[in-house]
Amino acid sequence: MADKLQEETEALPWIEKYRPQKLDDLVAHDEIVATIRKLVDANRLPHLLFYGPPGTGKTSTILAVAREMYGSSMRSMVLEMNASDARGIDTVRNEISNFAGTRKLFSTGIKLVILDEADNMTKDAQMALRRVIEKYASNARFCIICNYASKIIPALQSRCTRFRFAPLKTQLVVGRVKEIIAKEELEVSEAGLDAVLKLGEGDMRKVLNILQSSSLANNRKVDEAAVYRCTGKPTAADILACRSALFSESVSEAFQTMRNLQVTKGLALVDILQALHEDLKAVKFAPSTRVQLLKHMAEIEYNLASGTSETLQLGALVGAFFISRRQMQDGVAAAAAGSSSSASSSAMEISNAA
Ligand SMILES: Nc1ncnc2c1ncn2[C@@H]1O[C@H](COP(=O)(O)OP(=O)(O)OP(=O)(O)O)[C@@H](O)[C@H]1O
Ligand SMILES: [Mg+2]
Repeated sequence: MADKLQEETEALPWIEKYRPQKLDDLVAHDEIVATIRKLVDANRLPHLLFYGPPGTGKTSTILAVAREMYGSSMRSMVLEMNASDARGIDTVRNEISNFAGTRKLFSTGIKLVILDEADNMTKDAQMALRRVIEKYASNARFCIICNYASKIIPALQSRCTRFRFAPLKTQLVVGRVKEIIAKEELEVSEAGLDAVLKLGEGDMRKVLNILQSSSLANNRKVDEAAVYRCTGKPTAADILACRSALFSESVSEAFQTMRNLQVTKGLALVDILQALHEDLKAVKFAPSTRVQLLKHMAEIEYNLASGTSETLQLGALVGAFFISRRQMQDGVAAAAAGSSSSASSSAMEISNAA
Protein backbone atom coordinates (compact mmCIF):
# COMPACT_ATOMS: atom_id res chain seq x y z
CA MET A 1 0.00 0.00 0.00
CA ALA A 2 2.75 2.41 1.06
CA ASP A 3 4.74 1.33 -1.99
CA LYS A 4 1.79 2.06 -4.25
CA LEU A 5 1.39 5.52 -2.73
CA GLN A 6 5.11 6.17 -3.19
CA GLU A 7 4.85 5.03 -6.81
CA GLU A 8 1.90 7.32 -7.44
CA THR A 9 3.72 10.29 -5.92
CA GLU A 10 6.75 9.56 -8.08
CA ALA A 11 4.58 9.56 -11.20
CA LEU A 12 3.06 12.95 -10.42
CA PRO A 13 4.17 15.93 -12.47
CA TRP A 14 6.56 17.95 -10.34
CA ILE A 15 4.20 20.92 -10.20
CA GLU A 16 1.84 18.72 -8.17
CA LYS A 17 4.49 16.68 -6.38
CA TYR A 18 6.08 19.89 -5.10
CA ARG A 19 2.93 21.95 -4.60
CA PRO A 20 3.41 23.78 -1.29
CA GLN A 21 1.34 22.06 1.40
CA LYS A 22 1.79 24.62 4.15
CA LEU A 23 1.92 28.40 4.01
CA ASP A 24 5.54 28.15 5.15
CA ASP A 25 6.41 26.15 2.02
CA LEU A 26 5.53 29.08 -0.24
CA VAL A 27 8.37 31.14 -1.54
CA ALA A 28 7.75 34.89 -1.89
CA HIS A 29 4.54 36.71 -0.96
CA ASP A 30 5.66 36.99 2.68
CA GLU A 31 3.45 40.00 3.30
CA ILE A 32 0.36 38.38 1.83
CA VAL A 33 0.94 35.21 3.86
CA ALA A 34 1.52 37.21 7.08
CA THR A 35 -1.64 39.26 6.55
CA ILE A 36 -3.81 36.23 5.84
CA ARG A 37 -2.34 34.42 8.87
CA LYS A 38 -3.26 37.33 11.11
CA LEU A 39 -6.80 37.45 9.73
CA VAL A 40 -7.26 33.70 10.16
CA ASP A 41 -5.86 33.75 13.71
CA ALA A 42 -8.17 36.59 14.66
CA ASN A 43 -11.08 34.75 13.06
CA ARG A 44 -11.64 37.72 10.81
CA LEU A 45 -11.08 36.30 7.36
CA PRO A 46 -12.71 38.61 4.79
CA HIS A 47 -13.75 37.61 1.28
CA LEU A 48 -10.57 37.43 -0.76
CA LEU A 49 -9.62 38.32 -4.30
CA PHE A 50 -6.28 36.88 -5.47
CA TYR A 51 -5.03 38.06 -8.82
CA GLY A 52 -1.77 37.92 -10.74
CA PRO A 53 0.02 36.07 -13.54
CA PRO A 54 0.00 32.24 -13.82
CA GLY A 55 2.19 30.01 -11.67
CA THR A 56 2.76 32.48 -8.86
CA GLY A 57 1.04 30.50 -6.12
CA LYS A 58 -2.53 31.80 -5.91
CA THR A 59 -4.25 28.41 -5.87
CA SER A 60 -1.49 26.92 -3.68
CA THR A 61 -1.86 29.74 -1.15
CA ILE A 62 -5.60 29.39 -0.62
CA LEU A 63 -5.35 25.58 -0.45
CA ALA A 64 -2.63 25.92 2.20
CA VAL A 65 -4.78 28.42 4.10
CA ALA A 66 -7.71 25.98 3.95
CA ARG A 67 -5.53 23.12 5.16
CA GLU A 68 -4.33 25.21 8.10
CA MET A 69 -7.82 26.41 8.94
CA TYR A 70 -9.70 23.15 8.73
CA GLY A 71 -7.18 20.30 8.95
CA SER A 72 -8.93 16.96 8.50
CA SER A 73 -12.41 18.47 8.07
CA MET A 74 -11.28 20.35 4.98
CA ARG A 75 -13.37 18.17 2.68
CA SER A 76 -16.67 19.13 4.23
CA MET A 77 -15.81 22.76 4.83
CA VAL A 78 -14.29 23.80 1.51
CA LEU A 79 -15.95 23.98 -1.88
CA GLU A 80 -13.41 24.31 -4.64
CA MET A 81 -14.84 25.26 -7.98
CA ASN A 82 -12.99 25.94 -11.15
CA ALA A 83 -14.93 28.61 -12.92
CA SER A 84 -13.36 27.53 -16.23
CA ASP A 85 -15.39 24.30 -16.12
CA ALA A 86 -18.61 25.58 -14.68
CA ARG A 87 -19.19 29.19 -15.32
CA GLY A 88 -22.89 29.52 -15.94
CA ILE A 89 -25.28 31.39 -13.76
CA ASP A 90 -27.05 28.17 -12.66
CA THR A 91 -23.86 26.69 -11.25
CA VAL A 92 -23.30 29.76 -9.15
CA ARG A 93 -26.84 29.78 -7.85
CA ASN A 94 -27.27 26.06 -7.23
CA GLU A 95 -23.96 24.59 -6.27
CA ILE A 96 -22.72 27.48 -4.16
CA SER A 97 -26.09 28.07 -2.51
CA ASN A 98 -26.38 24.37 -1.65
CA PHE A 99 -22.96 24.30 -0.11
CA ALA A 100 -22.91 27.66 1.61
CA GLY A 101 -26.52 27.49 2.74
CA THR A 102 -26.35 24.21 4.59
CA ARG A 103 -24.97 23.92 8.07
CA LYS A 104 -23.87 20.44 9.03
CA LEU A 105 -25.11 19.09 12.29
CA PHE A 106 -22.46 19.59 14.98
CA SER A 107 -20.06 21.35 12.64
CA THR A 108 -19.28 24.89 13.53
CA GLY A 109 -17.26 27.55 11.85
CA ILE A 110 -17.19 29.37 8.61
CA LYS A 111 -17.04 27.54 5.29
CA LEU A 112 -14.78 28.51 2.44
CA VAL A 113 -15.76 28.70 -1.23
CA ILE A 114 -12.84 28.88 -3.64
CA LEU A 115 -13.70 30.14 -7.10
CA ASP A 116 -10.61 29.52 -9.17
CA GLU A 117 -10.06 31.04 -12.63
CA ALA A 118 -12.99 33.36 -12.00
CA ASP A 119 -12.07 35.63 -14.91
CA ASN A 120 -13.76 33.00 -17.07
CA MET A 121 -17.12 33.50 -15.36
CA THR A 122 -19.78 35.22 -17.36
CA LYS A 123 -20.86 38.68 -16.25
CA ASP A 124 -24.30 37.32 -15.36
CA ALA A 125 -22.78 34.65 -13.14
CA GLN A 126 -20.67 37.31 -11.44
CA MET A 127 -23.78 39.39 -10.89
CA ALA A 128 -25.51 36.40 -9.32
CA LEU A 129 -22.48 35.83 -7.11
CA ARG A 130 -22.83 39.32 -5.66
CA ARG A 131 -26.13 38.37 -4.09
CA VAL A 132 -24.94 34.92 -3.00
CA ILE A 133 -21.92 36.41 -1.22
CA GLU A 134 -24.09 38.76 0.77
CA LYS A 135 -26.72 36.19 1.58
CA TYR A 136 -24.31 33.67 3.07
CA ALA A 137 -21.87 36.12 4.65
CA SER A 138 -22.67 34.76 8.10
CA ASN A 139 -21.44 31.23 7.36
CA ALA A 140 -19.18 31.33 4.29
CA ARG A 141 -16.18 33.22 3.00
CA PHE A 142 -15.34 33.44 -0.68
CA CYS A 143 -11.94 33.45 -2.31
CA ILE A 144 -12.06 34.58 -5.93
CA ILE A 145 -8.93 33.82 -7.95
CA CYS A 146 -8.11 35.20 -11.37
CA ASN A 147 -5.29 36.36 -13.61
CA TYR A 148 -6.82 39.73 -14.46
CA ALA A 149 -8.64 41.66 -11.74
CA SER A 150 -10.13 43.85 -14.46
CA LYS A 151 -12.25 40.90 -15.64
CA ILE A 152 -14.06 40.81 -12.29
CA ILE A 153 -17.01 43.19 -12.07
CA PRO A 154 -16.39 46.19 -9.75
CA ALA A 155 -19.27 45.22 -7.46
CA LEU A 156 -17.57 41.89 -6.68
CA GLN A 157 -14.16 43.51 -6.30
CA SER A 158 -15.50 45.90 -3.72
CA ARG A 159 -16.78 43.01 -1.59
CA CYS A 160 -13.31 41.46 -1.37
CA THR A 161 -9.90 42.27 0.05
CA ARG A 162 -7.51 42.25 -2.92
CA PHE A 163 -4.11 40.60 -2.95
CA ARG A 164 -1.81 40.89 -5.95
CA PHE A 165 0.55 37.98 -6.62
CA ALA A 166 3.53 39.39 -8.52
CA PRO A 167 5.78 37.27 -10.75
CA LEU A 168 8.29 35.45 -8.53
CA LYS A 169 11.75 37.00 -8.25
CA THR A 170 14.57 34.87 -9.61
CA GLN A 171 16.49 34.85 -6.32
CA LEU A 172 13.44 33.36 -4.59
CA VAL A 173 12.71 30.81 -7.29
CA VAL A 174 16.31 29.62 -7.36
CA GLY A 175 16.27 28.36 -3.75
CA ARG A 176 13.18 26.24 -4.32
CA VAL A 177 14.52 24.91 -7.64
CA LYS A 178 17.82 23.91 -6.02
CA GLU A 179 15.90 22.00 -3.33
CA ILE A 180 14.01 20.09 -6.01
CA ILE A 181 17.20 19.45 -7.98
CA ALA A 182 18.73 17.88 -4.86
CA LYS A 183 15.63 15.77 -4.11
CA GLU A 184 15.41 14.50 -7.69
CA GLU A 185 19.19 13.93 -7.81
CA LEU A 186 19.66 15.89 -11.02
CA GLU A 187 22.90 17.07 -12.49
CA VAL A 188 22.28 20.66 -13.51
CA SER A 189 24.99 22.92 -14.89
CA GLU A 190 25.07 26.56 -13.89
CA ALA A 191 24.20 27.69 -17.42
CA GLY A 192 21.38 25.10 -17.47
CA LEU A 193 19.91 26.52 -14.26
CA ASP A 194 20.18 30.07 -15.60
CA ALA A 195 18.37 29.02 -18.77
CA VAL A 196 15.55 27.34 -16.79
CA LEU A 197 15.09 30.47 -14.67
CA LYS A 198 15.24 32.82 -17.64
CA LEU A 199 12.72 30.88 -19.71
CA GLY A 200 10.49 30.41 -16.64
CA GLU A 201 9.91 34.18 -16.45
CA GLY A 202 8.91 34.21 -12.77
CA ASP A 203 6.26 31.51 -13.31
CA MET A 204 7.09 28.62 -10.95
CA ARG A 205 4.87 26.22 -12.87
CA LYS A 206 6.74 26.96 -16.08
CA VAL A 207 10.10 26.64 -14.28
CA LEU A 208 9.23 23.21 -12.88
CA ASN A 209 7.79 21.96 -16.16
CA ILE A 210 10.89 23.03 -18.08
CA LEU A 211 13.15 21.43 -15.47
CA GLN A 212 11.19 18.17 -15.52
CA SER A 213 10.95 17.82 -19.28
CA SER A 214 14.58 18.70 -19.95
CA SER A 215 15.82 16.32 -17.25
CA LEU A 216 13.60 13.53 -18.58
CA ALA A 217 14.77 14.04 -22.12
CA ASN A 218 18.40 14.12 -21.08
CA ASN A 219 18.72 11.42 -18.46
CA ARG A 220 18.72 13.67 -15.39
CA LYS A 221 21.44 15.86 -16.82
CA VAL A 222 20.32 19.42 -17.50
CA ASP A 223 22.56 21.77 -19.40
CA GLU A 224 21.80 24.87 -21.40
CA ALA A 225 21.48 23.02 -24.70
CA ALA A 226 19.03 20.47 -23.21
CA VAL A 227 16.80 23.24 -21.88
CA TYR A 228 16.67 25.11 -25.16
CA ARG A 229 16.15 21.89 -27.12
CA CYS A 230 13.21 20.95 -24.95
CA THR A 231 11.50 24.30 -25.03
CA GLY A 232 12.21 25.01 -28.69
CA LYS A 233 13.39 28.51 -27.76
CA PRO A 234 16.31 30.18 -29.55
CA THR A 235 19.66 30.15 -27.72
CA ALA A 236 21.80 33.25 -27.17
CA ALA A 237 24.01 32.06 -30.07
CA ASP A 238 20.97 31.77 -32.37
CA ILE A 239 19.91 35.31 -31.53
CA LEU A 240 23.41 36.62 -32.08
CA ALA A 241 23.38 34.97 -35.52
CA CYS A 242 19.99 36.59 -36.28
CA ARG A 243 21.16 39.98 -35.10
CA SER A 244 24.32 39.88 -37.15
CA ALA A 245 22.38 38.78 -40.27
CA LEU A 246 19.74 41.47 -39.78
CA PHE A 247 22.29 44.23 -39.21
CA SER A 248 24.91 43.36 -41.79
CA GLU A 249 23.64 41.16 -44.61
CA SER A 250 21.65 42.20 -47.66
CA VAL A 251 17.88 41.78 -47.51
CA SER A 252 17.82 38.52 -49.45
CA GLU A 253 20.84 37.06 -47.61
CA ALA A 254 19.40 37.99 -44.21
CA PHE A 255 16.07 36.44 -45.17
CA GLN A 256 17.80 33.22 -46.24
CA THR A 257 19.99 33.06 -43.11
CA MET A 258 16.97 33.50 -40.86
CA ARG A 259 14.93 30.98 -42.80
CA ASN A 260 17.72 28.37 -42.62
CA LEU A 261 18.09 28.93 -38.91
CA GLN A 262 14.36 28.48 -38.38
CA VAL A 263 14.28 25.27 -40.41
CA THR A 264 17.42 23.64 -38.99
CA LYS A 265 16.66 24.51 -35.37
CA GLY A 266 12.87 24.25 -35.61
CA LEU A 267 12.36 27.77 -34.23
CA ALA A 268 9.08 29.66 -34.31
CA LEU A 269 9.33 33.21 -35.62
CA VAL A 270 7.42 34.57 -32.62
CA ASP A 271 10.06 33.12 -30.24
CA ILE A 272 12.86 34.66 -32.31
CA LEU A 273 11.01 37.96 -32.32
CA GLN A 274 10.58 37.99 -28.55
CA ALA A 275 14.20 37.01 -27.90
CA LEU A 276 15.37 39.68 -30.37
CA HIS A 277 13.30 42.23 -28.50
CA GLU A 278 15.14 41.37 -25.26
CA ASP A 279 18.45 41.41 -27.09
CA LEU A 280 17.86 44.80 -28.68
CA LYS A 281 17.75 46.42 -25.24
CA ALA A 282 21.56 46.22 -25.26
CA VAL A 283 21.85 47.88 -28.66
CA LYS A 284 22.10 51.64 -28.72
CA PHE A 285 19.78 53.33 -31.21
CA ALA A 286 18.58 56.86 -31.66
CA PRO A 287 15.17 56.97 -29.93
CA SER A 288 13.30 57.56 -33.20
CA THR A 289 14.95 54.52 -34.81
CA ARG A 290 14.16 52.34 -31.79
CA VAL A 291 10.54 53.48 -31.77
CA GLN A 292 10.15 52.68 -35.47
CA LEU A 293 11.70 49.26 -35.10
CA LEU A 294 9.64 48.34 -32.03
CA LYS A 295 6.49 49.47 -33.75
CA HIS A 296 7.21 47.20 -36.70
CA MET A 297 8.14 44.29 -34.43
CA ALA A 298 4.94 44.73 -32.40
CA GLU A 299 2.91 44.68 -35.62
CA ILE A 300 4.66 41.50 -36.74
CA GLU A 301 3.99 39.84 -33.37
CA TYR A 302 0.33 40.83 -33.61
CA ASN A 303 0.09 39.46 -37.13
CA LEU A 304 1.71 36.18 -36.11
CA ALA A 305 -0.76 35.83 -33.24
CA SER A 306 -3.58 36.27 -35.76
CA GLY A 307 -2.27 33.32 -37.74
CA THR A 308 -0.72 35.01 -40.77
CA SER A 309 2.03 33.44 -42.91
CA GLU A 310 5.39 33.08 -41.12
CA THR A 311 7.33 33.52 -44.35
CA LEU A 312 5.65 36.81 -45.11
CA GLN A 313 6.17 38.05 -41.57
CA LEU A 314 9.83 37.05 -41.71
CA GLY A 315 10.09 39.22 -44.80
CA ALA A 316 8.49 42.06 -42.85
CA LEU A 317 10.99 41.61 -40.01
CA VAL A 318 13.98 41.72 -42.35
CA GLY A 319 12.41 44.78 -43.99
CA ALA A 320 11.93 46.51 -40.63
CA PHE A 321 15.60 46.06 -39.76
CA PHE A 322 16.62 47.24 -43.21
CA ILE A 323 14.67 50.49 -42.72
CA SER A 324 16.33 50.99 -39.33
CA ARG A 325 19.74 50.40 -40.86
CA ARG A 326 19.04 53.04 -43.48
CA GLN A 327 18.00 55.49 -40.79
CA MET A 328 21.18 54.79 -38.86
CA GLN A 329 23.34 55.31 -41.93
CA ASP A 330 21.56 58.56 -42.76
CA GLY A 331 22.12 59.71 -39.19
CA VAL A 332 25.83 58.95 -39.37
CA ALA A 333 26.15 60.66 -42.75
CA ALA A 334 24.38 63.74 -41.43
CA ALA A 335 26.65 63.83 -38.38
CA ALA A 336 29.75 63.49 -40.56
CA ALA A 337 28.56 66.32 -42.78
CA GLY A 338 28.50 68.51 -39.65
CA SER A 339 24.76 68.91 -39.57
CA SER A 340 23.07 70.23 -36.43
CA SER A 341 22.87 66.84 -34.76
CA SER A 342 26.01 66.06 -32.80
CA ALA A 343 27.82 62.78 -33.17
CA SER A 344 26.72 61.61 -29.74
CA SER A 345 23.07 62.02 -30.57
CA SER A 346 23.48 60.57 -34.01
CA ALA A 347 21.28 57.74 -35.02
CA MET A 348 23.44 54.81 -34.24
CA GLU A 349 25.92 53.13 -32.08
CA ILE A 350 25.70 49.40 -32.01
CA SER A 351 27.26 47.95 -28.93
CA ASN A 352 28.43 44.38 -28.98
CA ALA A 353 28.04 44.19 -25.25
CA ALA A 354 25.18 41.72 -25.46
N1 LIG B 1 5.08 30.91 -4.32
C1 LIG B 1 5.33 29.61 -4.61
N2 LIG B 1 6.14 28.87 -3.83
C2 LIG B 1 6.40 27.58 -4.14
N3 LIG B 1 5.90 26.94 -5.22
C3 LIG B 1 5.11 27.64 -6.03
C4 LIG B 1 4.78 29.00 -5.78
N4 LIG B 1 3.98 29.44 -6.76
C5 LIG B 1 3.79 28.41 -7.58
N5 LIG B 1 4.46 27.31 -7.17
C6 LIG B 1 4.53 26.02 -7.89
O1 LIG B 1 3.84 26.17 -9.11
C7 LIG B 1 2.70 25.32 -9.18
C8 LIG B 1 1.52 26.14 -9.66
O2 LIG B 1 1.14 27.07 -8.68
P1 LIG B 1 -0.37 27.55 -8.50
O3 LIG B 1 -1.29 26.54 -9.06
O4 LIG B 1 -0.55 27.95 -7.09
O5 LIG B 1 -0.33 28.84 -9.42
P2 LIG B 1 -1.49 29.89 -9.72
O6 LIG B 1 -0.98 31.21 -9.26
O7 LIG B 1 -2.76 29.41 -9.14
O8 LIG B 1 -1.52 29.87 -11.30
P3 LIG B 1 -2.78 30.02 -12.31
O9 LIG B 1 -3.11 31.49 -12.36
O10 LIG B 1 -2.25 29.56 -13.63
O11 LIG B 1 -3.88 29.17 -11.78
C9 LIG B 1 2.49 24.77 -7.78
O12 LIG B 1 2.11 23.44 -7.82
C10 LIG B 1 3.86 24.88 -7.14
O13 LIG B 1 4.57 23.70 -7.40
MG1 LIG C 1 -4.50 28.63 -10.04
